[in-house]
Amino acid sequence: MQEANRLKRLPLYLFTIMDNLKHEAQENGVDVIDLGMGSPDLPTPKHIVDELCKQAKVEANHRYSRPHGDAERKFKEAIAQWYNERFGVTLDPEHEVLPLIGSKEGIANLYLTFLNHDDVVLVPNPAYPVHFNGVVMAGGILYNLPLTEENNFRPDLKSLSKDIVKMAKILILGYPHNPTTATVDSDFFEEVVDWGKDKDIIIVNDLAYSDIVYDGYKTPSILSVKGSKKMCIEYHTLSKSYSMAGWRLGFVVGNRDILKSISKTKSYMDFGIFRAVQYAGIKALTGPQDCVKKYVEIYKKRRDLFVDGMNEMGWHVKKPKSTFYIWAHIPLKYSALTSMEFATLLMKEAGVGVAPGTGFGEYGEGYIRIALVDDEKRLKEALKRIKKVLDMED
Ligand SMILES: Cc1ncc(COP(=O)(O)O)c(C=O)c1O
Repeated sequence: MQEANRLKRLPLYLFTIMDNLKHEAQENGVDVIDLGMGSPDLPTPKHIVDELCKQAKVEANHRYSRPHGDAERKFKEAIAQWYNERFGVTLDPEHEVLPLIGSKEGIANLYLTFLNHDDVVLVPNPAYPVHFNGVVMAGGILYNLPLTEENNFRPDLKSLSKDIVKMAKILILGYPHNPTTATVDSDFFEEVVDWGKDKDIIIVNDLAYSDIVYDGYKTPSILSVKGSKKMCIEYHTLSKSYSMAGWRLGFVVGNRDILKSISKTKSYMDFGIFRAVQYAGIKALTGPQDCVKKYVEIYKKRRDLFVDGMNEMGWHVKKPKSTFYIWAHIPLKYSALTSMEFATLLMKEAGVGVAPGTGFGEYGEGYIRIALVDDEKRLKEALKRIKKVLDMED
């Protein structure tokens, strides 16, 4: 059986590789501390789980989800209301909100919806894998925008050649940024919208980490910029803010024509979201928000503990203002190793799983990403093991 060419152009998914390494280590009796995938370990808050249980018993919710049902209408309204309260952005729930089975699905379907074989997508590199792999899956052309420490992990749009800009159909951004943890302020989005205003390019912001912020940082929305609805859409997910990664619940908001086209693709691909899950989503967005604050506090403590621990062992990293990741240079002493080799070393020798930077694109080489998705005790244990293996003072 031959895979389709578009699939052959893709390497094995990063986390499939890491899962295999983890499995191998576990087979060898290693107690693995897995800080590889950004899958929140904190439980979904109880009032959301309770709502799911209640709604799962309602027979009407067992049928296929249809766009104009009660759950569907209320979920869209809840999203619009949340956006308004959170960012002061007004959205028409009917036309400017599209619920998704997780934002990953929605990004892959954006590409399927818009890309022909000669269409270019401008993708910062490194990035969350579907931002670039989704382009290949959809048969489009990927154009990397290098993100480096020197440019504060921001793409330099002004340096793009006219030819590339002409071929470009989509620009995808994602701030607060996974994996680099970089953040931006609203000025940045204003510049981007200004750049895009005379071009025929869909501009996307993937806002997965808007709530996971520290030290007073406030995440802006690209949709707050005047004129942005002309060409912008923004993705969000309940996976991180409400620890609902396994539930598969996200949404995209913004330009109504773009959303209508994605919705057309989805109508051929899926049957929407289990209605009981949508009701639970409404509870999450409209219910008490202190659970989000509480979880952010927990992540902050973990961040401080881990970053301090790394600095103490001579592995110098800064505290991120957002996300629950640490984007760390491979220590100088180990710079002869690739990020994959270094991640493999940590897995095999320390029993600690981290994500190699190259899993997020070639500009991730030289880095690893650590996800703070285990409790403080395990994080301390991870630090202890890493310190022993790296032996930085030697
Ligand atoms: C930037 C970014 N976008 C999207 C996702 C996926 O979110 P979802 O669970 O809604 O598919 C992630 C998950 O790690 C992410 O980091």
